[in-house]
Amino acid sequence: TIEAVIFDLDGVITDTAEYHYLAWKQLGEELDIPFDREFNETLKGVSRTDSLERILILGGKQDAFTAQEKEALATKKNDHYVTLIQHISEQDLLPGIIAFLDEIRATGLKIGMASASKNALTVVEALGVRHYFDDIVDAATVAQSKPHPEVFLRAAEALGVAPERCIGVEDAAAGITAIHAAGMYAVGVGPETTLHEADYRVDSTDLLSLEQILASR
Ligand code: BG6
Ligand code: MG
Repeated sequence: TIEAVIFDLDGVITDTAEYHYLAWKQLGEELDIPFDREFNETLKGVSRTDSLERILILGGKQDAFTAQEKEALATKKNDHYVTLIQHISEQDLLPGIIAFLDEIRATGLKIGMASASKNALTVVEALGVRHYFDDIVDAATVAQSKPHPEVFLRAAEALGVAPERCIGVEDAAAGITAIHAAGMYAVGVGPETTLHEADYRVDSTDLLSLEQILASR
């Protein structure tokens, strides 16, 4: 039996995935490494340092900077991102998310979060949904980036629920891989093209229904 639902944040609860994209894109242009949305799919769910590394590899510039310079570049991206999320509020919750969280609560399941972002708590608080989560695990305390399962395993542990009794919800291919590697049931939100490995998939958050997810197992 399923006892918990563990959420990714960016691109699932709110559309901050778009802000991460815009912030990386701006940094990419500053570095003369332009990229499109298709390449951006490979950055989704991936940590700040790993994302920078992927962009530098794309531009053939992975050896052009010292570790210290790379840190400064990652900070620059985060400055762009923090500017973009400055005004987010509960208006920025994706459609149907509150109804879905309420349904999970009413069913008596625990609710967790497994985010790769160091900005996760700030965003969750700005959205006004902190109280829904029994626990939040973010990048501050996790060593390995998705697709590694660490963040999902840590989230299950924090909830006191065995991984095989957890459902993970993700918008990124790396996230679906991480959920499976953790031994959980993977729910994808987004297009089939990127999320074909999910156990169950919806096109958008307003279609998320715990009843239907449980019935799909
Ligand atoms: C993930 C996003 O949630 O967090 C990635 O999907 C992002 O796009 C990663 O790079 C790290 O976020 P932050 O806020 O720590 O730079
Ligand atoms: Mg995401």
